[in-house]
Amino acid sequence: MSRPPAGCAKEIRTEAEGPVGLITLNRPSVLNALNHPLMEGLVGALEDFERAPSIGCIIITGNAKAFAAGADIKEMDHATTAEISRDPHLSRWDRVGKCAKPVIAAVSGFALGGGCELALACDMIVASETAVFGQPEINIGVMPGAGGTQRLTRILGKTRAMEMVLTGKRMTAREALAAGLVNRVVPVESYLEQAKKLAHEIAAQPPMAVRMAKEAVLKALDVDLDAGLALERRLFYSLFDTGDQKEGMRAFIEKREPKFTGK
Ligand code: CAA
Repeated sequence: MSRPPAGCAKEIRTEAEGPVGLITLNRPSVLNALNHPLMEGLVGALEDFERAPSIGCIIITGNAKAFAAGADIKEMDHATTAEISRDPHLSRWDRVGKCAKPVIAAVSGFALGGGCELALACDMIVASETAVFGQPEINIGVMPGAGGTQRLTRILGKTRAMEMVLTGKRMTAREALAAGLVNRVVPVESYLEQAKKLAHEIAAQPPMAVRMAKEAVLKALDVDLDAGLALERRLFYSLFDTGDQKEGMRAFIEKREPKFTGK
């Protein structure tokens, strides 16, 4: 493999806290603008955590001032259509959305453009009171390119997504909570702790069931109800070949805590 270990990219920091993998975006001087090395490092770290049997849930975070203020404008201002469409950069956001393990965005400060789209590619968002979400690309002559028009519309509905995308106006953390964009809003001092708490809760669940439940919930956004129900049923049945299903149900009947092994 030619790729260096993900933890080596200076644009991100990674650490494992028991079964929780933490990825911190680390370009604070430019509000974590998402340039190529950062996104490459992020995807590498995500894939490492995805492969690691000991990791049950992943957090992506920035710092108190910025989750990320978007794709790096200074990397693309001169690009032509031919050049930018050959560039694999935007597919890295798709990779985050396809992670088999649950991913939580712990967001404080700016989550704009590609930063908002990165948070939306995660499965859940824990926001600090200072978080602001927006798709300001229209103000610089373009439009969202890393999922914003699709993911925002699925969450907010057409009318609110349209206003955000066409005006570039930002949404506060409280507005995002009311709109169902984020799971919770907490004081800035504790957003990372709260995200970790949620991640540890999920990581303690049986991993096969978590993985399949995630797959089924995501599919609900893409397929009609009958197809979604059929997938759900197949995944439900398949869990009966796992040791964790036997253990979980036996523990309930024996009135004790289950001991899940991931088998
Ligand atoms: N790309 C590159 N650099 C960025 C950046 C970005 N997206 N956002 C901020 N920076 C840099 C600034 O250039 C500045 O660097 P210097 O000190 O070297 O000048 C530094 O970060 C601090 O930024 P500001 O001085 O602008 O800080 P502020 O507090 O006055 O403003 C802000 C903060 C409102 C977030 C402002 O920085 C801003 O508007 N940033 C751009 C937001 C944006 O348009 N994002 C969309 C990018 S395009 C995209 O994401 C496409 C896509 O769909 C994938």
